[in-house]
Amino acid sequence: MPAPVRVPSSAGRGGPLRPGLPRLRTVLTVAGTALVVQRALRRRIRRSPLWPLPALEQPISGRGREAARRSAQANGLDGAQPAPGQPAALRLRVAERTEVADGVVALRLEGERLPVWEPGAHLDLVLPSGAVRQYSLCGEPADAVRADGASYTLAVRLIEDGRGGSREAHEVLRAGMTVEVRGPRNRFPLEDCHAYLFVAGGIGITPILPMVRQAEAEGVPWRLVYAGRSRASMPFLAEVEKLAGGGAGGAGGERLTVVAEDVDGRPDLAAALADAPPHAAVYCCGPEPLMDAVADLLPDGPAGLTLHTERFAPTATGPAAAGGADGASDDVAFAVELRRTGRTVTVPAGTSVLRAIREQALPDLAYSCEEGFCGTCQQRVLAGEVDHRDALLTDAERDDSLLICVSRAKRGSGLVLDL
Ligand code: FES
Repeated sequence: MPAPVRVPSSAGRGGPLRPGLPRLRTVLTVAGTALVVQRALRRRIRRSPLWPLPALEQPISGRGREAARRSAQANGLDGAQPAPGQPAALRLRVAERTEVADGVVALRLEGERLPVWEPGAHLDLVLPSGAVRQYSLCGEPADAVRADGASYTLAVRLIEDGRGGSREAHEVLRAGMTVEVRGPRNRFPLEDCHAYLFVAGGIGITPILPMVRQAEAEGVPWRLVYAGRSRASMPFLAEVEKLAGGGAGGAGGERLTVVAEDVDGRPDLAAALADAPPHAAVYCCGPEPLMDAVADLLPDGPAGLTLHTERFAPTATGPAAAGGADGASDDVAFAVELRRTGRTVTVPAGTSVLRAIREQALPDLAYSCEEGFCGTCQQRVLAGEVDHRDALLTDAERDDSLLICVSRAKRGSGLVLDL
């Protein structure tokens, strides 16, 4: 048996010890302390209200704020934070302007690494005059991420007696110009279904076309009724006929019904609905009378049809018809606190919340239709009881938001907005 090694007294207490034992004791002590600290930290993290960390608009570590700002600028995003109530904006170049039908121009807007979108989405287009209009995206979603030139495509029909937005888009926007857009946003998403019936009227084909492409790509059975004043006025008709497989008179006739009203008269919507498979999803976009007719006929169709529509004009029974954005005659004044801005504005009777805020606190606050159907002015409510007067928001959205162009506080209440 080997003799024990005597350790010099300078290494600690004397006596017969094994070599390296003091170092082992130190290691165990440090490891034990680290274990205790680690467990304490885990308990702290589990209890802490800061865990998980709240989402931040910009990272505060990692790339850092400045790197994030540079990256946002490189992507065409505004480097500065958008003003309260103003969604982030993109500045895009008009790469192409094409007449795609009588009175309809398609605009291809180019940028870099654009946000992705799905069929049914639209953009807010800020026209040079500052007017904001909504247009459905009608190109291919994959175009938004193309390495050789990311782009969005939208189409604008000239409305002679409209509010001027379509005329400005037609007469002012040219290839090479830069425009600001916000979005994309999607209030008309294509939900999974075993079969689709699409009904489009005129420019209403724009949100429907990407839906048809997607249904075709996924092998989901679809039919489309596409109506317009004349064939020459119907954008993307050739593509629709190609998707259907050879034109309305050819093999695609079973899937596609083209109704040019100058030749064929009105579409037979009752027949189209009667032929729809049970429990199919019906997607309809176009003039109000077309959408109203489909909604009226739906109960007579096969079982379980579900209707999805997107409106770009107020309903006949909506707030505009019931007195307009400035409200009903028995409205009273109330106060609106803008929590982030730190201001409180008074909304007089006969004035919308939107107008009061723009006049008294935030002149650049985004809006468009002022009639409760576009969604541009939607704001988050932090407190107060809302008298909702729109036909757009879902029940879930109404739980914490309102459209400030038409909706007000309930009598006796004020509102606190996240603005
Ligand atoms: S501005 Fe269009 S919904 Fe309010």
